Amino acid sequence: MEMQRKAFVPGRLWPDHRGQHISAHGGGILKHEGKYYWYGEDNSQGYLNHVGVSCYSSKDLYNWTYEGTALKQENLPEELQGRHDGRIERPKVIYNSKTRKFVMWMHAERSGYAFSSAGVAVSDNPTGPFEFLFVDRPVAFEPDEGFDAHTGEWELGNSFRDMHLFVDDEDANGDGVNDAYVMYASEANWTLYIVRLNDEYTWVDLPAGTTRIRPQCKAEHLGSVWSRQLIRRMREAPTPFKYRGNYYLITSACTGWNPNQAEYAISDHPLGDYLVKGDPCIDDTERTTFDSQSTFVLPIDADKGRFIYIGDRWIPDELGKSTHVWLPLTIDQDGSVSIRWHDQWSLEDAYS
Ligand code: DGJ
Repeated sequence: MEMQRKAFVPGRLWPDHRGQHISAHGGGILKHEGKYYWYGEDNSQGYLNHVGVSCYSSKDLYNWTYEGTALKQENLPEELQGRHDGRIERPKVIYNSKTRKFVMWMHAERSGYAFSSAGVAVSDNPTGPFEFLFVDRPVAFEPDEGFDAHTGEWELGNSFRDMHLFVDDEDANGDGVNDAYVMYASEANWTLYIVRLNDEYTWVDLPAGTTRIRPQCKAEHLGSVWSRQLIRRMREAPTPFKYRGNYYLITSACTGWNPNQAEYAISDHPLGDYLVKGDPCIDDTERTTFDSQSTFVLPIDADKGRFIYIGDRWIPDELGKSTHVWLPLTIDQDGSVSIRWHDQWSLEDAYS
């Protein structure tokens, strides 16, 4: 039997139970019935040879079992097949307590990087198989600045790229399930959009009487169902978490696969407004988020301000070998966030 891991080693290859490096990039973690599930991009065969969305499971966060491809490339729709070089980025999965379904949202992309749409898939089991529902864009809105990119915003709605999902512990809209939100880089990355989801989490929370296919969320729903945040700041990799009633959002700058300086922002409402506080990384001399880009923050003991920061250290030429940077993220009494480097660490070291 393989030796059990008892520590995180940020930025190194991380073998799964088969001894193969975990390829779950731009990923996210769902805790369900005492088990953790890690979903992400399966880049093991390279950027163009996209496999789909991988799933791994673990009881202790150190040792991961490969559960296979939760959503296969071949099960994506026509628009993402063949010559289109379709590809899924930054998939996230949440659980809907009403439908008892696992719901996956993703950034669906194809060559040219202008398709930039949301994909939604559902499954009865955490490990899949996920059934693909549709691709679309949640919001149609013309900003005051107009559109300054070739992503078809006017005809198709506003573009949908780096994304995340967040399930609140509240049901403020009173539909019987906790409110959930999708947040994503829109307007060709210029501005971040946050949109409340419907009670099945399968699309945005459109006002009664409106259908999924156009009209989408529009200007008149701004503020109640969706919001524009970090306007014209060009932020990517939105990564939300909640601490003592406040909503936190880590983002990166927009420099392709190259790491850059993270920033976090805080709001007292999930839709904002988010106020930028600064770089959460302490003693990060290169100012590159410890050579990583945020993808998830996992609560360990949220009330005590104990979380795990999860980022990708991208290796563009060998995308599947991109490593994972897991570090302790703490929140002080005054609400400020700190991420500190550790060559190796365990939850006991950091949080007991
Ligand atoms: C940065 C994004 O955050 C990644 O998810 C990926 O889309 C790369 N850009 C591609 O350059």
